[in-house]
Amino acid sequence: MVFYQNVPCLPTQAVTLLALETSCDETAAALYGERGLIGHRIQSQAARHSRYGGVVPELASRDHARDLLPLIETLFRDTGQGIQDLTAVAATAGPGLPGALHVAHALGQSLAFARGIPFFGIHHLEAHIFSGGLGPTPIDPPFVALVVSGGHTELVFVRALGCYELIGATRDDAAGEAFDKAALLIGLSYPGGAALSALAREGVPGRFRLPRPMLDQDGCEMSFSGLKTALLYALRALPEPLRRAHRADLACAFEASIVEVLVEKSFRALAMTGCRALVVCGGVSANARLREALSARAEASAVRVVFPPTEFCTDNAAMIAHVAWLRWKAGEHPADTVPVRTRWPLDSLAQPGSRA
Ligand code: KG4
Ligand code: ZN
Repeated sequence: MVFYQNVPCLPTQAVTLLALETSCDETAAALYGERGLIGHRIQSQAARHSRYGGVVPELASRDHARDLLPLIETLFRDTGQGIQDLTAVAATAGPGLPGALHVAHALGQSLAFARGIPFFGIHHLEAHIFSGGLGPTPIDPPFVALVVSGGHTELVFVRALGCYELIGATRDDAAGEAFDKAALLIGLSYPGGAALSALAREGVPGRFRLPRPMLDQDGCEMSFSGLKTALLYALRALPEPLRRAHRADLACAFEASIVEVLVEKSFRALAMTGCRALVVCGGVSANARLREALSARAEASAVRVVFPPTEFCTDNAAMIAHVAWLRWKAGEHPADTVPVRTRWPLDSLAQPGSRA
């Protein structure tokens, strides 16, 4: 990208950064300044995709293309800002759905080009990892990050911004994906993680017991696809029509299994790295039972645990803005920005300003 070469590399004037996110099924925009988040907007496509039981990529891209500009206009109107105020633009560059990613990335690049200001392509998971910085208790590396979203479940040793070591990951379904599939089996609509969790609160703990996949194996590898099959068999063994109490008991058992595995593997990662701080992020970090279990274990082990504010657990553009701001401040050059990457391992990232 040669057209960025003459723009200032570091923020030297009052900064207003516009960030855009369209990697999956949330269309989102945020404005960020010297004193932090100015405002943000999210438009979820969940209702659009729920009848298909999952995200339909082509529909997602089409709706992002339709909704992103009006969303930015609303954000400008509500915050009293305009295109003339922008000093940088950022957008998610990956990982995510290819067509969907291109919507925010292309619009962001075009805006930056038209205004002659820097553009930053941001890694979606790096943004989740630093989303705790949007809350009242930000935390600096080193720490272990438990990234639990609809598409990823990873334990990452975060040495510094841009310096990551993968400690463990799911071999198949992500935790959020497992929640969503289980929710469909139990008769809830997509995306069912939060709904399954709400139903689980009505259930009686211990009435059903589902497996704890890979818990008895050393290390931090995880697997959640077998759990969904175990749930299916448990459901089939119940009398028809399925009673709400049985569905609630099973939701409770399913949530208990996932939570126990995530807690145990997170504390193994802490032990392996010698870290005393854990950051939990991604959509599933909104789960109340996971938060309670991790907080209790952390207190007992003198470990600090940080969750993003619930508002910023699921996909949003505020986290994209925040990490773009951190990178820019740390010397990231816009010319280093990457094209859209649907697959993009976290450990292939570089520290800001480290590329020759
Ligand atoms: O981070 P995110 O918004 O999107 C991805 O980057 O994938 O995560 C979405 C996932 C969905 O699978 C959703 O069901 C799950 O997060 N989720 C939850 C809860 N809230 C959202 N899972 C369990 N309990 C919740 N309260
Ligand atoms: Zn996400």
